[in-house]
Amino acid sequence: MKAETSKGRFLDKFEDIRVALTFRDVMILPGRAEVEPGEVDVKTHVTKLRQLNVPFVSSPMDTVTESDMAIAIARRGGLGVVHRNCSVEEQVDMVKRVKRAEALIIRDVITVTPRDTVSTALSLMEKHNISGLPVVDETRLVGIATGRDVRFEAETLLVEQVMTKNVIKAEEGISIEAAQRLLRDHKIEKLPIVNKTGELAGLITFKDILLRGQYPDAARDENGQLLCAAAVSPFDLDRAKKLDEFADILVTDVSHFHNANVFSATKKLMNEVSAEVIVGNIGTYDAAEDAMTELDKISGFRVGIGSGSICTTTEVTKAGSPTLFATAQVADAVAKYGANIPIIADGGIRGSGDVAIALIAGASAVMIGNLFARCRESPGTLITIGGRYYKQYRGMGSPGAREKRYSLDRYGMPSKGVAEGVEGWVPYKGEVSIVLEELVSGLRASMGYAGASNIQDLWRKARLAALSPSGADEAAPHDILLPTESQERV
Ligand code: XMP
Repeated sequence: MKAETSKGRFLDKFEDIRVALTFRDVMILPGRAEVEPGEVDVKTHVTKLRQLNVPFVSSPMDTVTESDMAIAIARRGGLGVVHRNCSVEEQVDMVKRVKRAEALIIRDVITVTPRDTVSTALSLMEKHNISGLPVVDETRLVGIATGRDVRFEAETLLVEQVMTKNVIKAEEGISIEAAQRLLRDHKIEKLPIVNKTGELAGLITFKDILLRGQYPDAARDENGQLLCAAAVSPFDLDRAKKLDEFADILVTDVSHFHNANVFSATKKLMNEVSAEVIVGNIGTYDAAEDAMTELDKISGFRVGIGSGSICTTTEVTKAGSPTLFATAQVADAVAKYGANIPIIADGGIRGSGDVAIALIAGASAVMIGNLFARCRESPGTLITIGGRYYKQYRGMGSPGAREKRYSLDRYGMPSKGVAEGVEGWVPYKGEVSIVLEELVSGLRASMGYAGASNIQDLWRKARLAALSPSGADEAAPHDILLPTESQERV
């Protein structure tokens, strides 16, 4: 009988079996270094067009990213993806808050008319947390209502009765240095910008100028505003269009993007929005190949299925693609197509070493939920357990998150009957800037060992080795009694 190379349709599944390695299975082989860790460049692309100064993106989860987290991360050079487990209006408001947090020139200025009441002006100031409103008649600038003008006046008076009429203003095109001089000379905080015909064209504030100096590495758009991304379902076109007016980047929030219906909905969505769209999650070479063949406007890939610290997807379904393995697969597909699409490795990152490994496998950035949920800026509640501080953290497919109807189409009941996430607590770490600093320093050190001076260098030069169980044992402190880990105490 003729020997067959193929044993048959079913047995072949075992012949072809791949080991889907995860972060814990590998280590970085040291390589010849030309630069010191402090000189390493960690700038990266998060989409085809957008650059970040650090390769960190926060997960769109309702215990991780709302406005405060997105603002804090962008100020330190990363990117926040605002979650969608809320109404469209709430999500749009969160994105707007991020975009309004800083600007060179604020373009969508909040204004009042001369015939509005003092009460209206006061409530606008309170709602948007601002201290002054340009007064606009039709489109012409006719005054400014500052906190001082309105605060002690009767609420029924009209704005025109109390506003400052002699407004210090500047014409469009003024340099930031000249604007700063005007603000300083006149001891004012807001400088309305008008066009040649006296129409209000924008607003420069002293606070924005200060913030620009305070956060020189922030990830900003062309207008000096912080970058902000928002999660969308490809099936919720209305939400995507509303977010598109404010967000720089839309990120599809689908647990299994490699799906014909999802592809066709995303294609439609991409034709309706102007923001760049990051698609995912995917976990295989084939998924990346199909996506690149069928969708021509992909700006980024979100990669990894089932590795998240709160995920039970693989436990429940036995399906998944660990972030490390998935990243390398997608990176090879992207390289084969010469597509230049940045990859975000999403889920399972436990420390800076994992970040470096994800980048070595071809990622341009990593997406993190757990480590950022621990921070002051995350929305979860701060609680104490046994004298220590913790914050709530939950998967978006967890029973609690699924109770809110807006997460239904990612892990929800109509298509899937089981929860794919858990909820619990993570130790409180303080401000996200502390966590980011640790991650960036650790990443620089890893890059130093790998002998890479930037992320492209890591892709080209760095090598990984498999870690045996005894190797992993040896890699951690051993044969020593350690004091218990110090934690924040009440
Ligand atoms: P980490 O490890 O940082 O991972 O906690 C965050 C990522 O996990 C994904 N995610 C989920 N995956 N069930 C899942 O299978 C869930 O309920 C769930 N919620 C979030 C998501 O990709 C996130 O960025």
